[in-house]
Amino acid sequence: MLCSPWRSDFPALAILEAQGQTYLDSAATAQKPQALIESLTGYYTSGTANVHRAQHQAAERATRAFENARLKVAHWLNARSPTEILFTHGATEALNLLAYGLEHLLQPDDEIVISALEHHANLLPWQQLAQRRGAKLVVLPLDKDGLIDLESASRLIGSRTRLLAVSQLSNVLGAWQPLTPLLSLAKTQGALTIVDGAQGVVHGRHDMQALACDFYVFSGHKLYGPEGVGVLYGRDESLLKLKHWQFGGEMVRIAEYQHAEFHAAPLGFEAGTPAIGAVIGLGATLDYLSRQDATAVAAHEQKLHSQLLSGLSAYSGLRLLGKPTIALACFTIDGVHHGDLAHLLTEQGIAVRSGSHCAQPLMKTLGIDGAIRVSLGLYNDGGDLQRFFSAMDRALELLQ
Ligand code: ALA
Repeated sequence: MLCSPWRSDFPALAILEAQGQTYLDSAATAQKPQALIESLTGYYTSGTANVHRAQHQAAERATRAFENARLKVAHWLNARSPTEILFTHGATEALNLLAYGLEHLLQPDDEIVISALEHHANLLPWQQLAQRRGAKLVVLPLDKDGLIDLESASRLIGSRTRLLAVSQLSNVLGAWQPLTPLLSLAKTQGALTIVDGAQGVVHGRHDMQALACDFYVFSGHKLYGPEGVGVLYGRDESLLKLKHWQFGGEMVRIAEYQHAEFHAAPLGFEAGTPAIGAVIGLGATLDYLSRQDATAVAAHEQKLHSQLLSGLSAYSGLRLLGKPTIALACFTIDGVHHGDLAHLLTEQGIAVRSGSHCAQPLMKTLGIDGAIRVSLGLYNDGGDLQRFFSAMDRALELLQ
């Protein structure tokens, strides 16, 4: 049976297992490594202090650790400089920042292009921006495998396109999207490109200089890091296009009653006290991940995913959504409501997600009102899958 050498690095897994729980919902949020827990404990027990403000020792220590985390994120993404890394409170906030920060570039009848598989976080900020500016939201359709259809994209991305915002890896369909040709189509038209890396960042390393998008966002908590911190990567020259959006302490250089001047990125986009402990914890999580053998992690994830797909293929009436190639599988079963199945799985200690997965328009496109999603982390193993399939068998016996 497939074992995970990383499982023991995540203390919650043993606790959940002792409670009879099997965690298969890492695409929603991941469990945390001991390295992160120790970093958070260390930060909170050694005396907290605010960053970029005071000169006392604790403040200097906190500021150094905070900026060191920025360097680690820059290194993880192969950004050209730490000034290309902005901390937000999550991927959703990063996308909202972009939708406000780029608003001034849009004129009525300009077009914002997204795809049919977007999570609400990469749909609603653009939909609302389009409405505010009288712009048009263009939705790229999917092909039969659940990939953004390139032929349609080459027709729909045109001279009115100002922004292209697409996911790297769908949280429902689990397949890498054809980013390189999509980004190149948008660039040819002079549009800015935004990649939602919330799911993709977890699997492998992604080189921003090679990807060459203008902006890339992700959340710490899905990458085995803490909640409350997200990252907005932006090329230095693309960040210059952003208008400030949240105003307050530390983002301002000169403040007068009737006038203010603001810092450039990154500080100019980090108004107020940031999630200091979480940012430092994200840095510690990246240190932990950097110490692992990336090839071994990728091989483990692939094996586990193949075993998941092969186990699912044995169920009659099971319909897989798209052609997932990594990390997750979303499915429906003929004659079985996903909510009923999720309920019976939950009763047997299986943690999967069910429903519309924050992608209601995609569900509608697929002609369903929801699905079950099994998603994997590097700590999952063959035992987790075995318990899942036994629970599926028992649940389906009751339901069918
Ligand atoms: N975006 C997260 C998910 O897909 C919450 O579950």
